[in-house]
Amino acid sequence: MPKVLISDAMNNIAQKIFEKNNINVDVKTGLSEEEIIKIIPEYNGMVVRSATKVTKNIIEAAKNLKVIGRAGAGVDNIDVVTAKEKNIIVMNTPGGNTNATAEHAFALIMSVLRKTPFANETTHKGQWEKKNIKGTELSKKTLGIVGFGNVGVRLSHLVKGFDMKILVNSKSLSSRKKDFPNVNDVSFEELISKSDIISFHCKSTADGKPLITKEHYKKMKPTAYIINAARGNIVDESDLNDALNENLIAGAAVDVFSKEPAKENILFNNPKAILTPHIAASTSEASIVVAEMVANQISDFLLSGKKLNTV
Ligand code: MLT
Repeated sequence: MPKVLISDAMNNIAQKIFEKNNINVDVKTGLSEEEIIKIIPEYNGMVVRSATKVTKNIIEAAKNLKVIGRAGAGVDNIDVVTAKEKNIIVMNTPGGNTNATAEHAFALIMSVLRKTPFANETTHKGQWEKKNIKGTELSKKTLGIVGFGNVGVRLSHLVKGFDMKILVNSKSLSSRKKDFPNVNDVSFEELISKSDIISFHCKSTADGKPLITKEHYKKMKPTAYIINAARGNIVDESDLNDALNENLIAGAAVDVFSKEPAKENILFNNPKAILTPHIAASTSEASIVVAEMVANQISDFLLSGKKLNTV
């Protein structure tokens, strides 16, 4: 009977699906790399979210591992290169948390435009900051979406009632352009200089370097906002902090960090930055869907060799 390790907290539907499929399953969360290395030879499958870092050392110790499943989209916590070398399949669950992530990006946009966190915090303290809080409207603004995969597309749909102009920078849009008559395919340079809100929904670059540099901020509107709910290394936090402090842009909302969990960060306490702890995908609905998807995919692979959503 195949055996699977679930090493990150996730909805217990995953465990139930494995049990229903007669697959032995252990849920052991919060393990260190050393602890995983000790037990991983027992397992044929491994399921993670983002907390477990599936390192080269873990993969090399995983003598019986056939598949690693990521309950989520990004696989940057898995050493995919080493897994491929060892013929271990890596799967993710694209689409499972698309809507959750796009809705959080939208919530971040509205929060930063209307200064909602500051309004909330000060009102709770009995300070009446009414005259110090003036928001910006979303309607008729230009939204720049960098990366037009599932989440970027969903965000473009969510803002439909706001009469926005949408600029997109994406490597794959030109071949799909006819499906998206309402968006304009532009260069990154054009997008950053013309957008009022720039929201990142792309993957990290291959070399891990940030997409937006100090020079880019100088070309942006001083009233512009940056939203990052994709990956922390796409926007260099130090450059973003400088751009906010030098009034090169008006504000930012960030859900993802170069180092997570973010216990310290240069953006902490910058009043122009709204920060959330990588919760874009964390909804009741999405956590069930990704747990179900990953457990079904891994079961199908271990029981019948069927491969779905391999990366
Ligand atoms: C993902 O890659 O699916 C998201 O970033 C969600 C997550 O890691 O929790």
